Amino acid sequence: MFSIAKKLLFKLEPEKAHNLTLNSLGLASKLGLLSNKPLFSDGQIELAGLNFPNRIGLAGGMDKNGILLDDWAHFGFGFAEIGTVTPKAQSGNPKPRMFRLVEDEAIVNRMGFNNKGIDHLASRFKKRKPAGFILGANLGKNKTTQNNLAEADYCLGMDRLFPYADYFTLNISSPNTPGLRDLQHPERVKTLLSALIGYRNDLPLRRPIFVKIDPDLTDLDFIPVLEALGKAKIDGIIATNTTLGRPDNLKSRYAVENGGLSGAPLFEKSLGRVEKIRSFYGRTMALIGVGGIDSLERGQAMIEAGADAIQIYTGFVFKGPALIHQLALSLPMHGKE
Ligand SMILES: Cc1cc2nc3c(=O)[nH]c(=O)nc-3n(C[C@H](O)[C@H](O)[C@H](O)COP(=O)(O)O)c2cc1C
Repeated sequence: MFSIAKKLLFKLEPEKAHNLTLNSLGLASKLGLLSNKPLFSDGQIELAGLNFPNRIGLAGGMDKNGILLDDWAHFGFGFAEIGTVTPKAQSGNPKPRMFRLVEDEAIVNRMGFNNKGIDHLASRFKKRKPAGFILGANLGKNKTTQNNLAEADYCLGMDRLFPYADYFTLNISSPNTPGLRDLQHPERVKTLLSALIGYRNDLPLRRPIFVKIDPDLTDLDFIPVLEALGKAKIDGIIATNTTLGRPDNLKSRYAVENGGLSGAPLFEKSLGRVEKIRSFYGRTMALIGVGGIDSLERGQAMIEAGADAIQIYTGFVFKGPALIHQLALSLPMHGKE
């Protein structure tokens, strides 16, 4: 079934294929044809105070407007991250802005946080019917919001979604919003997180906060960032977002497109980051590994490198739900101690 759908969808322009797929799944969800009951792996995992049914999550960016929500469980996922959402709706960058690198099993995207805004997403989250699935909200800032005012955008996201979202991810690492990655700078991230953690602590429900980081920080910059994240007492890290780097061995003609590269060629970089993060904190930081996971072996390698859970985007596009089911049922219960 997936291989037939893939053949047809891969004939379409990537963003069209993406929208057609999501809208069709949205319809199936409305008709009650999808299940929101997650696949429980053998023994659940507790992470940042939440009980995850299995270790495999849908990465941010696939369902920016909350079309499926808990129904991502239907494909074997134990959790999904909805968004990135910004306070105001925005159209994102001009099209085309998503490119399939078929020969490389990769994608380049420069979407630029196209989304319908926080109020629309909150109205979707209100309709949740949770059945053990974990749903996170991935928060960003509007393109028009200056970096020195970024706090307000992330606080608004938490304010609107805290009654419904199980956790928040602060996205400060997308390469497609000019200047966003500057928020990772150790001095800036300190002030940002001190404000955001303080704000979260005053909300009536305590929702864990993850920070999603980029894979392109130099080794020199990386450690000060980890020190700042540790001091800020966030609940966890998601490593990594897409890369601006282009490995030499890419074959597709779309490799030259501007934007973030995801999929198979990102794996080694993300894996390296996960290893470094785990060795820096020991077991004191929850860690979700993401980037280029497209097989059981790679999923296992990510867990062995120290990830508590993993997320997938591009591997799901190329390999479909069979990969998710296989990973959900087979990943070892414990990573590196
Ligand atoms: C088309 C596309 C859009 C994305 N949009 C977002 C986004 O809005 N927010 C985010 O945090 N990550 C976004 N990502 C990054 C993914 O969540 C993930 O970190 C990255 O693709 C690496 O994982 P993968 O190799 O499994 O795709 C996007 C990725 C792709 C391919």
